Amino acid sequence: MKINNPTLEKIAVKKDQYPAENLKEIALAGRSNVGKSSFINTLINRKNLARTSSQPGKTRTINFYNIDDKFRLVDLPGYGYAKVSKSEREKWAGYINSYLSERKNLVDVFLVIDFRHGPTELDLIMYDYIIQNGFSGTVIASKFDKVKKSQQAKNLKMIYDKFGITDKSLIIPFSSETKYNKDLVLKKLDQLIEE
Ligand code: GTP
Ligand code: MG
Repeated sequence: MKINNPTLEKIAVKKDQYPAENLKEIALAGRSNVGKSSFINTLINRKNLARTSSQPGKTRTINFYNIDDKFRLVDLPGYGYAKVSKSEREKWAGYINSYLSERKNLVDVFLVIDFRHGPTELDLIMYDYIIQNGFSGTVIASKFDKVKKSQQAKNLKMIYDKFGITDKSLIIPFSSETKYNKDLVLKKLDQLIEE
């Protein structure tokens, strides 16, 4: 896939603010600061179209990126950041839940986790939720560049074990720093939008 003209089409919290259900959407879910927005920038070759920050809690809305009018990548607020107030966290969880459960043109949800630590308790809950809603269960294990070569295979196995996943195509180690596996993800997106 070649991406020429990605745009931030819409920023929403409520359903009536979402764009029309005319294009397939692939959403990014995951803990705050895990690299969801960076993942989008890497795929679309833009430094900062999706706003990122070293401080967790940067993305607080549902951001719809229109990719060449072919499909959308949807950046969701991160979960699990303790410094955000409980009421705020519950509000974001509400946005995420309504989007994931009601969106008709949502074809897949990628769960982004940290390759260094593997899934947290909340990641495993989110994973179950994603599977129960009928999505493929693709995991993007981000920040791959931060793990020493000698540790990489061990971490990958730990991640497979914690999720209880055996299908080798479902966990994709990824790095926005080195662009590791960018082409593989683009291929996966190609398949998803053609299906
Ligand atoms: P929220 O919007 O808070 O949910 O966070 P997010 O998941 O969108 O994370 P974001 O993309 O803003 O990245 C958080 C921090 O991690 C930033 O400082 C990024 O530069 C850094 N980061 C993201 N991906 C990678 C990666 O693959 N490798 C390295 N080394 N750093 C990364
Ligand atoms: Mg973000």
